Amino acid sequence: MTAHKIALIPGDGIGVDVTQATMQVLDAAAARFGFTLEATRFDWSCETYLPTGRMMPQDGIEQLRPFDAIYLGAVGWPATVPDSVSLHGLLLPIRKAFDQYANIRPHRLLPGVEGPLRAEGFDILCIRENTEGEYSGAGGRVHQGRDNEVAVETAIFTRKGVERIIRFGFEQARARRGHLTSVTKSNAQKYSMVFWDEVTRELAAEYPDVTVSPMHIDAMAAKMVMAPQDLDVVVASNLFGDILTDLGAAIQGGLGFAASANICPDRSGPSMFEPVHGSAPDIAGKNIANPIAAIWSGAMMLDHLGEKPAAAAVLAAIESATGRGIGIRPGSHGTDAITAAVLAALEESA
Ligand code: NAD
Ligand code: IPM
Ligand code: MN
Repeated sequence: MTAHKIALIPGDGIGVDVTQATMQVLDAAAARFGFTLEATRFDWSCETYLPTGRMMPQDGIEQLRPFDAIYLGAVGWPATVPDSVSLHGLLLPIRKAFDQYANIRPHRLLPGVEGPLRAEGFDILCIRENTEGEYSGAGGRVHQGRDNEVAVETAIFTRKGVERIIRFGFEQARARRGHLTSVTKSNAQKYSMVFWDEVTRELAAEYPDVTVSPMHIDAMAAKMVMAPQDLDVVVASNLFGDILTDLGAAIQGGLGFAASANICPDRSGPSMFEPVHGSAPDIAGKNIANPIAAIWSGAMMLDHLGEKPAAAAVLAAIESATGRGIGIRPGSHGTDAITAAVLAALEESA
């Protein structure tokens, strides 16, 4: 029997609840489809930071490297640890160290779910660059606290980094409906984004079967609201992709529905799966977090591990639960009730 080695990092707040929900569902799927998930739990979080001064041990990356995949709940507890410390101490270094440059975030309506804007009939795959750009961490501050203070945050775009993510977008578009929207702000940002547009045009020549629309991020934000049904694959830089995917989450009914995969395409390191949402301190520990985004991310992990029928069954179980009205509105059902409904649907479909 195949055993997949999973590193589990539940993290903070609702990350802990939704990770537990996800593993229950994934274990049930594994049992049904004849494989096992050997999960090793890493309690790295803001809580463990407080006494140790570290979000993960010094050799944390090396501890994660041998795993087939990493599953992460959410990180961040700003009341006790500044976000700039917690995220740069755990989540962001993992994405970078394992070259998880393709962040894949699907946005579509699950059966029974109505987004607040009543957008319908959309099926968007957002591909976000995940290792450089605005998240490069290059910059500094001088004259702190003085009138002449200056803060610089440099966005670094390399040919290697830009080419590979746009190529990834073209490949996804080719496998779907053949349309790629490339998001920039090249009317205002005259170096990085003009470069991004140039690379998009160069690669377009290799993909004559894909139609490409360059769009500015501001117009794109409006389009995601007004006409999301016209979009297929969207490729964007790290920060633009971050913002657009919370917008994508909103049109699909909320952050409780938005799944995410941080993929290392050449498999030189493990990929990492996590919901789009964060640790939601406002609802943590209340059994009201929607675990669907997390479970869907778990299905993406099974797919990545080659367990395609199990992945499809988990997604079908989610759809069956929401189709019956479970978890479709904020507060309509608790974390446990939604998890139980997905588990029951998985069992019924056996
Ligand atoms: P958030 O995504 O945690 O929450 C935003 C809003 O959405 C909150 O009102 C929250 O209650 C709601 N929400 C989120 N997930 C939900 C779910 N599954 N079910 C129901 N409602 C849900 O974003 P935030 O408040 O900006 O961030 C909180 C902390 O999480 C911060 O420390 C932030 O840096 C961190 N964060 C971490 C990740 C990650 O680990 N991948 C992602 C985003 C934010
Ligand atoms: C996400 C999150 C992270 C990001 C934060 C917590 C650093 O918002 O995964 O979307 O910006 O990538
Ligand atoms: Mn985000």
